[in-house]
Amino acid sequence: MSQSPIAIIGATSGVAQCVARQLATSGVEFYLVARNAEKLSQVAADLTARGATVHEVVAELADLNEHTSLLANIEAAEHYFIFHSSLTDQDAAKTDWQVAEDSLNVNLLSPLSLLHGLANTLEQSGSGSLVVVSSVAGDRGRASNYWYGTAKGALSIHCEGLRNRLMKAGVPLMTVKPGFIDTAMTAHIPKQPAILWASPETVAEQIIKGWQKNKDVIYTPGFWRWIMFIITRIPEAIFKRLSL
Ligand SMILES: NC(=O)c1ccc[n+]([C@@H]2O[C@H](COP(=O)([O-])OP(=O)(O)OC[C@H]3O[C@@H](n4cnc5c(N)ncnc54)[C@H](OP(=O)(O)O)[C@@H]3O)[C@@H](O)[C@H]2O)c1
Repeated sequence: MSQSPIAIIGATSGVAQCVARQLATSGVEFYLVARNAEKLSQVAADLTARGATVHEVVAELADLNEHTSLLANIEAAEHYFIFHSSLTDQDAAKTDWQVAEDSLNVNLLSPLSLLHGLANTLEQSGSGSLVVVSSVAGDRGRASNYWYGTAKGALSIHCEGLRNRLMKAGVPLMTVKPGFIDTAMTAHIPKQPAILWASPETVAEQIIKGWQKNKDVIYTPGFWRWIMFIITRIPEAIFKRLSL
């Protein structure tokens, strides 16, 4: 599986870099997609030094008009990992529609537009796989982050439907639901309680394990499955009064 070309969309993400590093050995071919050319070439150089063959593709992923040409540039890949996302400024989104719309664009419409193209290609070939990084934030809406949560929740549901469709073509799709990870996205958030925070290396390891085992949905670290099991079962009459 790992010898077929792998596309990593959002390749400068902290978690994506760890996934690529852990997969990089001689013989592995990567198509790396990111918006920042300079950061991308640093990531590419690191992977090349580890023996991988790397193709760099620069793309502003929030611009859906670029997606057709982007997908053409990475069509030689067999496996596609979608990582890009931006944590929504929830306070700003409450009063500024543009912030809310931008969040839905990059966190939901952008991955859906890519999946729309990729699903048709992989379904026709009957090979390859998809890995889509969502979030536990999509499992239940909370006052503190429901714009980001809305995008991730809809993304997770879309992945369920697409997995159901692609199963018939023998193309697995894994949804990844991480909890808190110590990356650039969360640099501004105090890392408390520490037990709930994971390193990008740990999350990357679990993503690779899940992908290699053709898992449908993984929570990472795994204890988030049980936390979200409880959170999603709290009656709404109680939940709406909580500050989570
Ligand atoms: N960190 C967490 O606590 C956490 C929790 C749950 C789920 N997740 C999910 O895990 C995935 C990886 O996130 P991370 O923690 O690794 O965060 P990260 O290091 O901040 O990575 C986010 C990535 O998205 C890219 N990106 C954002 N907007 C983009 C745009 N318009 N066009 C192109 N690329 C864009 C960023 O590019 P630049 O490098 O150019 O900024 C960066 O590569 C995301 O889907 C995130 O939602 C993270």
